[in-house]
Amino acid sequence: MGARHFLTLSDLSPDELTALLKRAIELKAMQRAGVRHEFLKNKVLAMVFEKSSTRTRVSFESAMIQCGGGAIFLSPRDTQLGRGEPIEDTARVLSRMSDVIVVRTFEHEKLERFAAHSGVPVINALTDKYHPCQVLADLQTYIEHRGSIKGKTVAWVGDGNNMCHSYIEAAGLFSFHLRVSTPPGYDPDHALLRNAKSVELVRDPMQAAHGADLVVTDVWASMGQEEEQAARARDFADYQVNGKLMARAKPDALFMHCLPAHRGEEVSAEVIDGPHSVVWDEAENRLHAQKALLEKLLA
Ligand code: CP
Ligand code: NVA
Repeated sequence: MGARHFLTLSDLSPDELTALLKRAIELKAMQRAGVRHEFLKNKVLAMVFEKSSTRTRVSFESAMIQCGGGAIFLSPRDTQLGRGEPIEDTARVLSRMSDVIVVRTFEHEKLERFAAHSGVPVINALTDKYHPCQVLADLQTYIEHRGSIKGKTVAWVGDGNNMCHSYIEAAGLFSFHLRVSTPPGYDPDHALLRNAKSVELVRDPMQAAHGADLVVTDVWASMGQEEEQAARARDFADYQVNGKLMARAKPDALFMHCLPAHRGEEVSAEVIDGPHSVVWDEAENRLHAQKALLEKLLA
């Protein structure tokens, strides 16, 4: 079929990723300057979302509108997907009517099956395993605030989840050092860790944050884990990113969170609303990074 997909960060080479982030920064400047760039004119984006979303949905829909195209949002509730139409058939049909498809779903394997049957590029808008679009925005944000992330130390504090997995991939692709600090029982995928470059598990969050250039966290219970919320709140109690933890990082360390955030759980209000935090730039950059991604995949 030959379409180029973006299911994980590794679907692009380190050079391509670096160029993409440079382009995202350019597209942001163009947008600010009011320069029109209608490279998506007459293009259609189909958006299959089996989980809730604010940022991912709005950033993709805005990107399509601002760049001259259109987006169609599809939830299982209103489509035949919710009534059992196979994912493979949905992929075949949507790819005959649209130019690019974004999918947010549960099992990563389901996304892979979708992509295998799509004749147009498929983008991962989050699965249980990875969230690569978010990490593109995070890296754009780091570069804008501090320059290259190469050789820097990033502390991931919290759950070994989809965001953590995309950070593990990013460490090798962007040559930064990643310390992953998760409570026992919440480690990231060990197979991924085994193949990872410059990633270490540091159980003690204070030790993980020591001298870090960037501290990142995410919710303790991801979408689909709502029933584990109470147990997780207990298990993650020592893994909150608060003022004491940030004080261990470099004085000019940045704090990121993909959002939505729960103040008083994974992050204290003083950190997310404080001077280290760049979460609003990080959220905005979803728009610019994804425009650059669409440009790359549709080139
Ligand atoms: N960070 C992120 O993906 O947010 P949404 O779930 O709101 O899309
Ligand atoms: N880990 C979170 C990220 C939300 C953007 C989740 O999967 O729910």
